[in-house]
Amino acid sequence: MKLPWLKRYLPRSLFSRTLLIFAVPIITVQLVVTVLFIQRHYAGVTEQMTQAVAVELIYAAETVEAAPDAEEAQKRLDALAIPLGLFLTLEDGTIRQRDSVAFYDVSGSALVDTLADRIQRPLAIDINSDDKVVFVRIQTQKGVLAAEVPRRRMVASNPHLLLVWMLVTSAVLSAIAVLFLRNQVKPIRQLAHAAEEFGKGRTVRFRPAGAEEIRRAGAAFLSMRARIERQIDQRTRMLSGVSHDLRTPLTRMKLALAVADPGLEVEELGRDVDEMERMLEGFLAFARGEGAEEAEETDPIAIAELIGSDTRRTGRSIAVASTSDTPQNGLVLLRPVAVKRSVQNLVDNALTYGGQVALAVRLLPKFVEFIVEDDGPGIDEAAREEAMRPFVRLDRARNQDAGGGVGLGLSIAMDVARSHGGTLELGHSDRLGGLRAVLRLPR
Ligand SMILES: Nc1ncnc2c1ncn2[C@@H]1O[C@H](COP(=O)(O)OP(=O)(O)OP(=O)(O)O)[C@@H](O)[C@H]1O
Ligand SMILES: [Mg+2]
Repeated sequence: MKLPWLKRYLPRSLFSRTLLIFAVPIITVQLVVTVLFIQRHYAGVTEQMTQAVAVELIYAAETVEAAPDAEEAQKRLDALAIPLGLFLTLEDGTIRQRDSVAFYDVSGSALVDTLADRIQRPLAIDINSDDKVVFVRIQTQKGVLAAEVPRRRMVASNPHLLLVWMLVTSAVLSAIAVLFLRNQVKPIRQLAHAAEEFGKGRTVRFRPAGAEEIRRAGAAFLSMRARIERQIDQRTRMLSGVSHDLRTPLTRMKLALAVADPGLEVEELGRDVDEMERMLEGFLAFARGEGAEEAEETDPIAIAELIGSDTRRTGRSIAVASTSDTPQNGLVLLRPVAVKRSVQNLVDNALTYGGQVALAVRLLPKFVEFIVEDDGPGIDEAAREEAMRPFVRLDRARNQDAGGGVGLGLSIAMDVARSHGGTLELGHSDRLGGLRAVLRLPR
């Protein structure tokens, strides 16, 4: 069953939805039962009790009419009053109106209807001016018979008490339900939290708990997390192991080349060895990217400024700007070395492929952005995806004089972004005309 319009009005959290699923049927049943019960039971009981009183009132009215005069009638009424338990007087005048009843008073309207139906004479009923006594005035041939009838002789005892009981018990039961429900939802929340944190590269303590299905999901998450961690670890170790091991023969080759007779071939070989060495350093940096660095509260603006001053020290110019639009303090939970390295990679690219470079940090309530722009050739939209893959360098011609990279800079940056749960986006810089790279990390 699909009800898309309903979804818009439903609460979003599991907790409130479950509560709603509980509450709506229960409240509906209670309302229906209450209304039916009050109407049927109280109206029914009141009707029966009132019928008995009506018989007595008719008897009193007939007694008045059978008396020769008003004085005698009152005397006979006084004699009746005690056994009947009513207060009866005979008055002059006639009756015009019938009194109204408050609309919520179910038993009251049953009472009025039954009396009017039974007595079949003009009469006035006042059930409102005293909450213990009902005043009934009946038109007889000898005047008006005024009777004071104790209310409890005609009306079933107060239905409000039932309502109060129902409300109190449902409130207590609902409170208990809410407590239990909380406990059921908690493990799901914890699982979601652990999964989110892992997506951001943080491992939080998590123990599967709660109902069978939730526990199973939690256990599955834990083994998945362990598997991924193992894989990352293996990859890292392999890559750094290989790089490391290759270094030794490379160093030997360098030594051999240094003592060899100089010549064109030796020179070329030397360049190749240098390039290999640079590549190995790149691999090592890539492998270290996934290393054991812990996330900590870090000031992203300080990272940007550090990169700025490092760059200026090498004799290149860079514009560093920062904006902070956040209610929190300026700190973000991230792995500072990894983030600095990836921003540095973006800046290095900008310096390599462009001339003018601008680095900006935007601190927002939900995330932090490092934006690197340059005035170089940029990257075609179609090639952006490709450029972020490991070991990919775009068109050779452009790169030849631009220093031999390995093609890992962008993929390291993207790896770091992903391991923080963030993204790396490449685009066109409207300001400078070259590439605009945005490293966005959630906080
Ligand atoms: N700012 C930029 N402007 C123009 N092209 C760029 C820019 N940044 C990267 N590229 C292109 O994307 C390719 C991949 O970049 P990446 O940083 O991954 O590798 P690299 O710079 O070639 O080598 P490395 O960074 O590993 O030394 C580059 O070879 C280059 O062609
Ligand atoms: Mg690069």
